Amino acid sequence: MAEQQRSDVLAFYVNGKKVRSCVYINAFNELQLMSCLVRLTGSKYGCGGGGCGACTVMLSRYDPQTKHIHHFSVNACLMPVCQLHGAAVTTVEGIGSTKTRLHPVQERIAKAHGSQCGFCTPGMVMSIYTLLRNKPQPTMEEIRETLGGNLCRCTGYRPIIDGYRTFCEVISSFISGFLHAVGEKKLLPLDPTQELIFPPELIRMAELEERATQTFRGERMTWISPISLDELLQLKSQHPQAPVVMGNTNLGLDIKFKGVVHPIIISGFRVRELCVCVCVAGVCIGAGSSLSTVRSVLEKCVCSLPAEHTQTLAALLEQLSHVAGEQIRNVTLGGNVASAYPNSDLNPVLAAGRCSVVLQSREGKREVPLDKDFFVGFGKTVLKPDEIVLSVFIPVSRKGEVVRAFRHAPRKENALATVNAGLRVWFEEGSNVVKEMSVYYGGVGPCTVSAERTVQQVIGRPWNEATLSDAYRALVDEVTLGASAPGGKVMFRRSLTLSLLFRFYLHVLQHLKDTVRPPSVTWFYPTYLDVPSGQSEQDPVGRAVQHQAALSHATGEAVYCDDFPRTQGELFLSVVTSARAHARITHIDVSRALSMPGVVDVFTADDIPGKKFRSFTGIDEEILAQGEVTCVGQMVCAVVADTKPHAKLASAAVKVHYEDLPDRIFTVEEAVEKRSFFLPQREIQRGDVTKAFQEADHIYEGEIRLGGQEHFYMETQSMLVIPLGEEKEMKVYASTQHPTMVQEAVAETLGIPSSRVSCHVKRIGGAFGGKLSKTSILASITALAAWRSERPVRCVLDRGEDMLITGARHPVLGKYKVGFMSDGRITAADVRYYANAGHTPDDSVLVIEKILLHMDNAYNILNLRGQSAACKTNLPSNTAFRGFGVPQTPWCSAGQLKRSEVSIREKNLYKETSLTHYKMEFDPEVLLRCWEECKERSELDRRRLDVARFNQQNRWKKRGIALIPLKYGVGFAEGFLNQAAALVHIYKDGSVLVSHGGTEMGQGIHTKVQQVASRELDVPLSMIHISETSTSSVPNTCPSAASIGTDVNGMAVKDACQTLYKSLEPIRKQDPNGTWQSWVQLFGSNTSFIKWGKNKGHDLYMDWVKQEGRPYAYFTYSACCSEVELDCLTGEYRTVRTDLVADIGRSINPAIDIGQIEGAFMQGLGLYTMEELKFSPSGVLYTRGPGQYKIPAVCDVPLQFNVYLLSGSHNPHAIYSSKGVGEPTVFLGCSVFFALKEAVAAARSDAGLSGPFTLHSPATPERACIACGTRFTQMIPETETAQPWALELP
Ligand SMILES: Cc1cc2nc3c(=O)[nH]c(=O)nc-3n(C[C@H](O)[C@H](O)[C@H](O)COP(=O)(O)OP(=O)(O)OC[C@H]3O[C@@H](n4cnc5c(N)ncnc54)[C@H](O)[C@@H]3O)c2cc1C
Ligand code: FES
Ligand code: FES
Repeated sequence: MAEQQRSDVLAFYVNGKKVRSCVYINAFNELQLMSCLVRLTGSKYGCGGGGCGACTVMLSRYDPQTKHIHHFSVNACLMPVCQLHGAAVTTVEGIGSTKTRLHPVQERIAKAHGSQCGFCTPGMVMSIYTLLRNKPQPTMEEIRETLGGNLCRCTGYRPIIDGYRTFCEVISSFISGFLHAVGEKKLLPLDPTQELIFPPELIRMAELEERATQTFRGERMTWISPISLDELLQLKSQHPQAPVVMGNTNLGLDIKFKGVVHPIIISGFRVRELCVCVCVAGVCIGAGSSLSTVRSVLEKCVCSLPAEHTQTLAALLEQLSHVAGEQIRNVTLGGNVASAYPNSDLNPVLAAGRCSVVLQSREGKREVPLDKDFFVGFGKTVLKPDEIVLSVFIPVSRKGEVVRAFRHAPRKENALATVNAGLRVWFEEGSNVVKEMSVYYGGVGPCTVSAERTVQQVIGRPWNEATLSDAYRALVDEVTLGASAPGGKVMFRRSLTLSLLFRFYLHVLQHLKDTVRPPSVTWFYPTYLDVPSGQSEQDPVGRAVQHQAALSHATGEAVYCDDFPRTQGELFLSVVTSARAHARITHIDVSRALSMPGVVDVFTADDIPGKKFRSFTGIDEEILAQGEVTCVGQMVCAVVADTKPHAKLASAAVKVHYEDLPDRIFTVEEAVEKRSFFLPQREIQRGDVTKAFQEADHIYEGEIRLGGQEHFYMETQSMLVIPLGEEKEMKVYASTQHPTMVQEAVAETLGIPSSRVSCHVKRIGGAFGGKLSKTSILASITALAAWRSERPVRCVLDRGEDMLITGARHPVLGKYKVGFMSDGRITAADVRYYANAGHTPDDSVLVIEKILLHMDNAYNILNLRGQSAACKTNLPSNTAFRGFGVPQTPWCSAGQLKRSEVSIREKNLYKETSLTHYKMEFDPEVLLRCWEECKERSELDRRRLDVARFNQQNRWKKRGIALIPLKYGVGFAEGFLNQAAALVHIYKDGSVLVSHGGTEMGQGIHTKVQQVASRELDVPLSMIHISETSTSSVPNTCPSAASIGTDVNGMAVKDACQTLYKSLEPIRKQDPNGTWQSWVQLFGSNTSFIKWGKNKGHDLYMDWVKQEGRPYAYFTYSACCSEVELDCLTGEYRTVRTDLVADIGRSINPAIDIGQIEGAFMQGLGLYTMEELKFSPSGVLYTRGPGQYKIPAVCDVPLQFNVYLLSGSHNPHAIYSSKGVGEPTVFLGCSVFFALKEAVAAARSDAGLSGPFTLHSPATPERACIACGTRFTQMIPETETAQPWALELP
């Protein structure tokens, strides 16, 4: 309290309400706006580092000079609360609600089916809301660009864009389909009078307030915010070590994630002198200007100046349009320059463009060139400790001068560049002889790098191929990277320096040949199959009913686990994880942690009263490490404190002493060599493989590596455990797909009966298989903390911890041998799969089984052998992930058979009723219909010719097209996991409460179950409510996984409803004109209106000894055609078009099902082409957030994305003839991979490389570019044999 009194008062508004606060900076120096919004559930915490956009809010400020109110979007997770003085913050709650009036931005995303789990939805809403406040009728491009900083892991983005396209001034023809479907008149209009007005008091404050320095103090930090340049310089001279904070996007990350402590921080954001922009003989921009301001200043200059003077400005503009997302672009120019980040996009262009910076201290000003001498090392410049950057000067370009900027990043938008470049050349007047040149690169050293010696090769010489060839050779020698260079990708980065120079060369020559642009976005609005004629209007089954919680998502009212209000005495738990991959724990020193403020408890495995491990698939996994650690990230002990910052600080203070053990194993090759497996290994065979190989015309052998995949659910692992009552009952609120598993795990850990533990799940912010086993272990640890302290305990993992601890999809090495005939028939195949399971078994054996069951995919290979093994390594344990092994099955590209891939695939498809290799009979008629319809709808034959023509005409861009079929088995091979129960209550007012075992994680199970209950009880949907999933309502549930959620739970609900409906029959007969309410009232007073329903499930099994079984209830089929365009110089690609035909039987809800198909496809696209988990040579996961790990963003959606539901398909094995839909189409992302492979093959052919080649998955730009074998990749010499920066997995 004493600290608070010494702080100044901060005044700002949140959603029209004034906040006057003495800001108290907490123990962890966490001072972000987010911490002020804890009582509002709308701003979500997805990553904490500005990378996901879930926390987006709008900030508005009044500028007394221009009398303008400026609105901009910011990430609440990085916005320092101390910078809010005078600002109005608008969160999603402030723009509309279900209780008062919805805002059109909220309504349209909901009606367009643009929210699934809903965790990203408020951020999406606020990004578009801010755009509309600035421009009520934006262009399509502006909408797309605005969403560039917002990630969604569920939807595939198409429906979000669909919903928001309706705001555009010009709406393309297809959108009228959306308006038609929804009903134009039913959409709320954008009404400016609905918006919150900017608080007049803030205008008065800005106009009149005596501006004074503000100071805020906290446990470990003082924040000083001066108002004039003089004061700022004075403070800087008094505290030279104190950083000047502006946007806080660089400094804030260091404080948050690297534990950097600055006792004093000086904020420059109120200093107006830092924001002055002047245009004389160039542009002088104040260092405090935001990147968005810089952009608009430059845009104005480019329009007003003669073109020859705007080269540098245009190059900067080009680069600015790619920097981060919209929210981050509100950071400052000075911050970007002074951070001296090696990958800064601006610094290479500023340096190449002869720019300078004005530096100032109390001693005076100096202007220094922003060139190679300005950057002196990683994060270091020539600034003296007491100096600040006052402004940046960008000169106009001169006659004969050409400036360009290039960048390559792992994702087209919202990703730091892998390599970028600023290049400038100045020719002697009237000639092509080079007078001056600058070449600067980012991403190839500790800071921005100048290629001076290379430039010397060019100066004084004509701009032609011979000159540039010498320059390339010089560049190879000059810009080098050691084999262990941080960031890895050494060969690729080096080759990019060459190809970007080559691009510049072509640009200057003005005959950049690859001018063909992919078509612009023409996303399709799906049409749904009609419901049968005669179906009652009220019956919702088969209709595109909106997700039941869509409006709650869009308004921020939806409550997730961490949104439950803090309770009195609540504690926070943080886990301490192992820093070693394989070591003996010699001592755990908790003494310092225990003495830290707020710390209540620290416990280890020795303190667990019940079972110290979880048993899964018959093998034990320790809850907390005992004696030995077997991977980095293994949980060792837990710290419990009064607040999250205190718990985090204390867990960092726990000292674990280790003695390293030998024989660390990371890769599957090492595991195979050391026979390190989780047993059993599996094998399956049909036909005579050996003989078939002898008789084959050709044999091809190869291998493919399929990388793992992080779940990246937007809501991280979260749980809250509340001990209740005198019998020590435990109420567990968890974000889990398997409440029963959590309940059992907690009971076993505490050594109490399951009846004392209840697990409750309201909704989950995405799961994808990642919230099963690890969640139960985390819940056990949290429950133990609650048990010991007798207080509620919350545990919410940060994104980095979550990625480190919880494992991912199994990376797999597939070694294959294929025998085939000259006509393309595959007569024999032998594939060995090695999955990297990590350090515990989890469900790895089940995964390798599923790999073998799906290795035939849709192909009838009569002689087929598969073997699979789960390799035990010293990496975090891999686990279930959507598709559960099926996406890891592709093993061979038919292209290696030197025939048209489509014809070979077609030739080998199952054609008639057949037995699979595990002797399950099925009829492939629907598969063949999917294939034919996809061929037709995608216009495959015509487009194959177009692709060939394109490839002939273009040297550096190539296209590829691939059509992939899929046969996918639905169900758990263990029969008991397919069972379900449901409980239905009917209350006297006629309202219905349905409880079932499925958890709502975005897949829309609650909506579909409501549709089932509505049909069976013949009542409107609005009468049916689902409150939560709880083990105390429905016990012993199966996990929501394997695409069977609706199949099994829907059946159980149907059963219960039918029984209830039947019991009403006498009363309906008695009063045929009555209503539902009247029947219920008549009947309900003396009868139990609760009914159990159950679904026994199918009798599924797989006998691995006999190698036969019926592991699936049924198959679902699909086919997908994707076309890509690849830039061979950088490996960047774009999916030009995807057509996907899916058989999902008779869909219960086509909008939800198409959402699942699109979302799964995009996740597959990420898996096969983008997402890379990187580990250090000692087993430390590098990729621990959206900054390093790229999931698909809105820029990655195919330019044309058509999804069709196959008509006339039925399924006697699931409810209402529907089929499971959640997982299958992840696999179809491989259509993009194989299309890329075809494009690479075309590039190789131009480079004179023929024959089969290997392309591993993910086919990242790095892999695709190197595989193209261009002259630039071939110029890079092999690096020395030093240890690479990252492990080569699996
Ligand atoms: C999610 C994310 C994505 C990003 N993507 C990109 C990208 O694509 N391309 C790119 O180039 N960058 C990118 N960045 C980096 C971003 O541009 C920088 O973090 C930002 O420009 C820094 O500006 P700031 O105002 O936030 O600086 P701050 O974090 O406030 O300060 C950064 C450093 O600069 C110093 N400093 C700031 N202003 C001054 C001044 N006037 N005088 C002296 N020292 C000063 C501070 O003391 C501090 O050391 C990204 C960052 C994030 C978080
Ligand atoms: S939580 Fe703020 S950007 Fe991810
Ligand atoms: S709906 Fe976007 S992350 Fe789930």
